Amino acid sequence: MPDTAQTTVNDLGPYWMPFTANRQFKAAPRMLVGAKDMHYTTDDGRQVLDGIAGMWCVNAGHGRREIIDAIKAQAERMDYATAFQMGHPGAFELASKLSNILPGDLNHVFFANSGSEAVDTALKIALAYHRANGEATRTRLIGRERGYHGVGFGGTAVGGISNNRKQFGTMLAGIDHLPHTHKLSEMAFSKGQPVWGTHLAEELERIVALHDASTIAAVIIEPMAGSTGVLVPPVGYLDRIRQICTKHGILLIFDEVITGFGRTGAAFGADRFGVQPDMMIMAKGLTNAAVPMSAVAASDAVHDTLMTGPENAIELFHGYTYSGHPLACAAGIATLDIYVRDGLFDRAAELAPYWEDALHSLKGAPHVIDIRNIGLVGAVEVASRDGAPGARTYDLFVQCFEEGLLVRQTGDTIALSPPLIIDKTQIDRMIDIIGTVLKRLD
Ligand SMILES: Cc1ncc(COP(=O)(O)O)c(C=O)c1O
Repeated sequence: MPDTAQTTVNDLGPYWMPFTANRQFKAAPRMLVGAKDMHYTTDDGRQVLDGIAGMWCVNAGHGRREIIDAIKAQAERMDYATAFQMGHPGAFELASKLSNILPGDLNHVFFANSGSEAVDTALKIALAYHRANGEATRTRLIGRERGYHGVGFGGTAVGGISNNRKQFGTMLAGIDHLPHTHKLSEMAFSKGQPVWGTHLAEELERIVALHDASTIAAVIIEPMAGSTGVLVPPVGYLDRIRQICTKHGILLIFDEVITGFGRTGAAFGADRFGVQPDMMIMAKGLTNAAVPMSAVAASDAVHDTLMTGPENAIELFHGYTYSGHPLACAAGIATLDIYVRDGLFDRAAELAPYWEDALHSLKGAPHVIDIRNIGLVGAVEVASRDGAPGARTYDLFVQCFEEGLLVRQTGDTIALSPPLIIDKTQIDRMIDIIGTVLKRLD
């Protein structure tokens, strides 16, 4: 039975919910009160299969004993330690463990607390790097249409989702955007990476020609755009972006908040797509979401360029009170140990073909206009109702929840990204519920 002390909610008013239709939600709330392995428990005692790993983050499944114990033990030992001019062993251990699994020479890890903070951190490091390198005119940042890089001003500015931008004025100056790579008429129902769209990387040359390379600091992209509805990169697209960045001395930042930690069937998207960034942003799966934490990993060149000047000088005037928080580090270390011990990234790769077949079996179901997948992530795009974008997927999301499956609605797309511990029966159940609900939706 659920714990009534936790489930009794007297007043829904004071909590202003994030990215939520507050009034609609509060009229018919959906409450989660427990979570274990692949399932949530609702306040009315139902089990709901977690089809989205919380929110692309609980990659090792819910309530992992090792993570809980590590957090508890750290809280007993030392609750907090200042992160400025002091250290604690957990932060160094987690950074070392991370650098061991990160691709290439991403050997230097800066901690923050959310994806959004890590995005701002990476953008600021890019600017500081060029300045330290004698190229202070490189201040322009290039994002991508439909990209999502969190909700700080930096991330909102380089992000490319109109609804996330339009309420907030001019944001940062000196931003440009690559076009997104999604075109249904060319790539609907592609399995894995679409073959159309590679040429869109050339748009970066156009942007460079417009602004001149000497003004551009960095390109930031998600290897696979997640929050906008799972846009898998066209074959060769990321390689070409990498080549153009290298040619013009522009830093390439991969935002791997979603693609990190096994989601695409490899440790990181950079591994999966075989393209090495100069910086990588991580969050979510870093701690299995048990404690908020994010990180930016920087290459030797980026890091070393900033490690100059007198040794008593602070090299980067940036950081957070909770950078490398002891509880987050404990959770992160335990999480990485689980990923490695249980071979969860390999498991994602092994399950990927089954996942792909299961997902694409929904082709032909009512309203479905596209299905996309890579690794253990996928999306089902449905036709909009006339004049009401998102309304049909909202109903799909609510009815799936009522049937015992949590999916994520983003526009006219349902995104799916289960914990990497999912089994084939549970995959079948996900598809079954979505198929059933699609059939009865108007
Ligand atoms: C690619 C990407 N970057 C950044 C963020 C922002 O992370 P947070 O919500 O932890 O600030 C997200 C969140 O979904 C994301 O998907």
